Amino acid sequence: MSRLDDRVAIVTGSGRGIGRATALRLARDGAAVVVNDLDPEPAAETVALILAEGGRAIMVAANTVALDQAHVLAAAAIEAFGKIDIVVNNAGTTRDRMFHAMTDADFDFAMDANFRTAHHTTLAAMPYMREVAKAEIAATGRPAYHRKIVFTSSVVALTGNPGQFNYAAAKGALIAVTKTLARELGPFAINVNAVAPGFIETRLTAAKSAGNALGIPEETRDFVRSLVSLGRLGEPEDVAAVHAFLVSSDSDYVSGVTIPVTGGQIGGM
Ligand SMILES: NC(=O)c1ccc[n+]([C@@H]2O[C@H](COP(=O)([O-])OP(=O)(O)OC[C@H]3O[C@@H](n4cnc5c(N)ncnc54)[C@H](O)[C@@H]3O)[C@@H](O)[C@H]2O)c1
Repeated sequence: MSRLDDRVAIVTGSGRGIGRATALRLARDGAAVVVNDLDPEPAAETVALILAEGGRAIMVAANTVALDQAHVLAAAAIEAFGKIDIVVNNAGTTRDRMFHAMTDADFDFAMDANFRTAHHTTLAAMPYMREVAKAEIAATGRPAYHRKIVFTSSVVALTGNPGQFNYAAAKGALIAVTKTLARELGPFAINVNAVAPGFIETRLTAAKSAGNALGIPEETRDFVRSLVSLGRLGEPEDVAAVHAFLVSSDSDYVSGVTIPVTGGQIGGM
């Protein structure tokens, strides 16, 4: 018996990085996983990795910046597995520029990728989470079990970071809505929490190379490493483990909080 047996989880942005590690971890913990990404090829690879380990997963290529795509994602989860218990809103990316040079298009891009995806995916899941819990309360007096929503914020929302006005706005907004939704959905035993990863080894934090729009300068990587109490940058599995805790019954009495997953980054809590 694993702690997510019988649960169905959507993990957005799970074609790569933290999302892939989370999808694999949730599947190992027993969940059926709906692997969502913009890019079908890496998402299909994640599904193949889960199936190879004997887990259950399907792939839904969708960009949930658009609400209709979020509905497609939720409908696919229902068609394949019959319910939605868990949403891990992990999709996100960066488009860094110093504030004075940042265009509205840069701002909107980061808000869409990091905030609107989470907003729409969560909204599309409501009929299968809130309404189902409400029906259970009407029938038996209480929901059958706790359902879980997790947002993937960032240490940047806690510390600030030059060049990330747009990303900080989106990730800070996720912390604020975590508290708000926790209050709205608590009566339905839906826990809403967030993680704030520090610097985790993925393509977003790889050393910047020519022609690569993502990534950060090598000097920044060295500087950040010097701030981390545990002396290393994080791995995607470090965040996946906290996602897994927050979607399991082990965290049934935890809601409305943001957990920093930073290795004890000084200034990052
Ligand atoms: N890597 C870090 O240090 C770090 C730190 C703090 C927060 N985060 C956050 O963690 C999350 C995962 O980041 P990562 O480092 O694994 O990045 P990544 O680029 O390795 O993976 C992100 C995945 O999300 C997908 N994606 C992007 N926009 C999407 C959309 N609109 N719809 C569906 N999928 C989409 C990408 O295609 C990609 O496969 C992001 O929200 C990121 O902001 C990362």
